[in-house]
Amino acid sequence: MENAKVLARLQAVECRDSTYIPHHHALVFHKAQGSRIWDVEGKEYIDLCAGFGVHGLGHASSAFRKVVAEYAAASSEPPFGFPLVHAMGDVYPSQDKIELLEKLKAVLPTALCRGMLALTGGQAVELAIKTAIISKKRSGFIAFKGAYHGLDLGILPFCSRGDFKEPFTIWSGSSSFNVMHLDWLCDEEAIKGAIGVLQGQQSGFCGIIVEPVQGRSGIKPAPLPWLQKLHNIVRKYDGVLIFDEIFSGLGRTGTITHAEEVSCDLLCLGKALGGGLPLSACFGTEEVMRGWPENKGEAIHTGTFFGHPLSCRTATQFLNALVHDDLCRNAQLLGDAAQRYLAEQLSESRIVKEVRGKGLMIGVEFYQEGLGAACMDEMRAQGVILLANGEKGEGVSITPALNIPQELLLEALKRLVEWVKSQERF
Ligand SMILES: Cc1ncc(COP(=O)(O)O)c(C=O)c1O
Repeated sequence: MENAKVLARLQAVECRDSTYIPHHHALVFHKAQGSRIWDVEGKEYIDLCAGFGVHGLGHASSAFRKVVAEYAAASSEPPFGFPLVHAMGDVYPSQDKIELLEKLKAVLPTALCRGMLALTGGQAVELAIKTAIISKKRSGFIAFKGAYHGLDLGILPFCSRGDFKEPFTIWSGSSSFNVMHLDWLCDEEAIKGAIGVLQGQQSGFCGIIVEPVQGRSGIKPAPLPWLQKLHNIVRKYDGVLIFDEIFSGLGRTGTITHAEEVSCDLLCLGKALGGGLPLSACFGTEEVMRGWPENKGEAIHTGTFFGHPLSCRTATQFLNALVHDDLCRNAQLLGDAAQRYLAEQLSESRIVKEVRGKGLMIGVEFYQEGLGAACMDEMRAQGVILLANGEKGEGVSITPALNIPQELLLEALKRLVEWVKSQERF
């Protein structure tokens, strides 16, 4: 089977916006293990992306296989019954959902004591925004330039990229309906000014949403004192602070959440949470979560698959491994070493603007627009999977599994450095 031929079949059936069809080095994933992937032709790749950060423990981790084995081992002989795959989330829950919520509560800072589950990152953000609105009875928000919080219609205004929003302004009336986008790391005066504007509108000021490390726009960590400033301002103006840690949370940047260092009112988790299956969560303080009414028969926000037992099981196993194997610290150490290596190797580069990141969330930004996208294409040919980032494809992201073997990581980074050096010659 050839990659290009399989991709041509996809092109014949899928919406043309859905999948990137490269002009060269076509690739269709076939199998994977740990931080290695094989395509349909049997070629091997080092995975520096971990499925957009989903495979925190690597592909087909032992935690994931343990759950699958439990299902496979169950028998149709008495005592009857297989582990649940799907339950009735908000009506008849599964034990798996309860165990996961308890586990999450146990690993998160004490103040974040109540949560809701969903499937995707965008849905977790949607939950956070709805929680903020229902608890404060206001609807004006501050987000930041470069922000990416998902593309669902309700949360689209929080996304900073115009090209993602413009086709749909016919729905929302404006690309930034009730959301003011401020400069990343802007000063206190700018934030207070925006709050004043929102307070003067019908919406009022409801809260601030921030990625403690911006991901899609190019791996940009926020300094902790700046996050603390956001916290203080939100307190002063009776708003809600939302940390979107869909990407940066659960060990990737060295802690389970930045809320361990700066408190927030609502926290969004996703990607790695499901241990490879779709699962996300929004956890909040007792105070904001009390904004929701008691379920007297029908939840006012739910979804068919919310609290999906199989995903809850793999999630609980993922969290167990994260804590047991001390993967936060591992990500911190590996990430520091990787950043040091790249910074040393690329310090003299004429094409690299900056190497930056936190833990195993690392970005390389090039001066030239589109060079990140070219790098992603070329590295694919060199057997390394990484992802272009930035509004103009000016960088690449390195977000491997938290347990990637150090020598494999180094081998992939060496190939990246060689490619950068080869570009310097032109
Ligand atoms: C910070 C952040 N928030 C939200 C999302 C949206 O998650 P999903 O694509 O699962 O809806 C992403 C996805 O990359 C993200 O990085």
